[in-house]
Amino acid sequence: MSKFIVETSEPLKGKIRTDGAKNAVLPIIAASLMAEGKCIIEDVPDLSDVHTMCELIRILGAEVRFENNRLEICADNIINRELPYEPVKKIRASFLLAAPLLTRFSKVRIQMPGGCPIGIRPIDLHLKGFARMGAEIRQEFGMIELTADKLGGNEIYLDFPSVGATENIIMAAALAEGVTVISNAATEPEITDMSEFLNKMGAQIEGAGTETVRIRGVDRLYAAKHRVIPDRIEAGTFLAAAAITGGDVRIENVIPEHLRAVISKLKEMNFGIEEDDDSVRIYKNDDIKSVDIKTMPYPAFPTDLQPQFMSLMTTMNGTCIINETIFENRFQHVGELSRMGANIKLEGKSAIIKGGNRLTGAEVKATDLRAGAGLIIAALCAEGKSEIGDIYHIERGYCRIEEKLKALGAKIEKLDI
Ligand code: UD1
Repeated sequence: MSKFIVETSEPLKGKIRTDGAKNAVLPIIAASLMAEGKCIIEDVPDLSDVHTMCELIRILGAEVRFENNRLEICADNIINRELPYEPVKKIRASFLLAAPLLTRFSKVRIQMPGGCPIGIRPIDLHLKGFARMGAEIRQEFGMIELTADKLGGNEIYLDFPSVGATENIIMAAALAEGVTVISNAATEPEITDMSEFLNKMGAQIEGAGTETVRIRGVDRLYAAKHRVIPDRIEAGTFLAAAAITGGDVRIENVIPEHLRAVISKLKEMNFGIEEDDDSVRIYKNDDIKSVDIKTMPYPAFPTDLQPQFMSLMTTMNGTCIINETIFENRFQHVGELSRMGANIKLEGKSAIIKGGNRLTGAEVKATDLRAGAGLIIAALCAEGKSEIGDIYHIERGYCRIEEKLKALGAKIEKLDI
């Protein structure tokens, strides 16, 4: 078990580079199972979630080589085998293997991924999509069994723009017979990135990144080479860390357009922002003020940055409301932030934050990945020392976060105990 020990830090200063996006590479790894030959994926972050996904496809018989942020995958000889629940339950993205496996085998059994600390996270929209394409679905003993000799294209309306459901349906439709049109699709950049990878493999996907995605099924897909987009959530986390310490940091390997809502909110708070094609600089101005935030599907403010920005708000004068509309249980960090002196009340989907309280270091626990990142950010400006436990959650989505923050002047150490 490891911990982060964080002490009050001076304003962060310098440059930092983000890694490739975790949420893009996980569906891309799944999609690579649909190709004939060896796929090459570059700028892959060295994260435990990526290792888990690789472990899952190795169990299926894929040949996987992961070195120096480069991933080679050959799935020519995969077999139709049930995956053990242990690695499946570690990452919800394991269910993204459903579509590739269904397109390769006419019957697949895959474990239901289960809930997680931030919410129940059902898979009904994924299943609705498969059913609309002609799959028969049986659910028993914690397993989903999907059967379809050949999937057929159809019109599919998503009741909510789910990221994972959009990805699974695009993958299934890529090798289905005929045309599939997804309406009210999720528009997250990671979906566009996965679709670009599939198009390089020979798929015919139009409109990824918009609410209507049109996929013309093809007979076969071939290996491709792809570089993963930068991680906008990692970039947003560093923006929040720089902001809370009143620092001056340039974040490189960023697509500023992917952070439009986040940058707009920071400007509303009166932080200085400079952008160019692939970097964003943040610096402190006078009269910083708190703002209300509502999380919603892209291009609105991302739920994956809600805890980090809540930490930031606790330090600002004034009262603000953070409204979480995506996950029903994504406020577990509130209890931990309260231990550090934050004044936050919860009312249903809203957190009311009375800012300006002095935060003080405390022993706290990361309850999930982004909540853990939020605690690091709070600890950077809290008085005294904080100990953050259960950091395996944080390491699912941030590679060597302590080294990156230290390079900017943060006082953070990883303690292996
Ligand atoms: C992805 C991201 C995650 C991010 C989330 C929302 C990956 C690997 N993970 O998760 O980091 O927090 O998007 O931006 O990309 N829902 C249903 N039925 C379904 C599917 C989803 O009701 O079949 C609901 C969920 O419970 C949740 C909401 O839709 O309330 C959003 O979930 P979804 O967009 O599917 O998130 P994920 O793809 O799981």
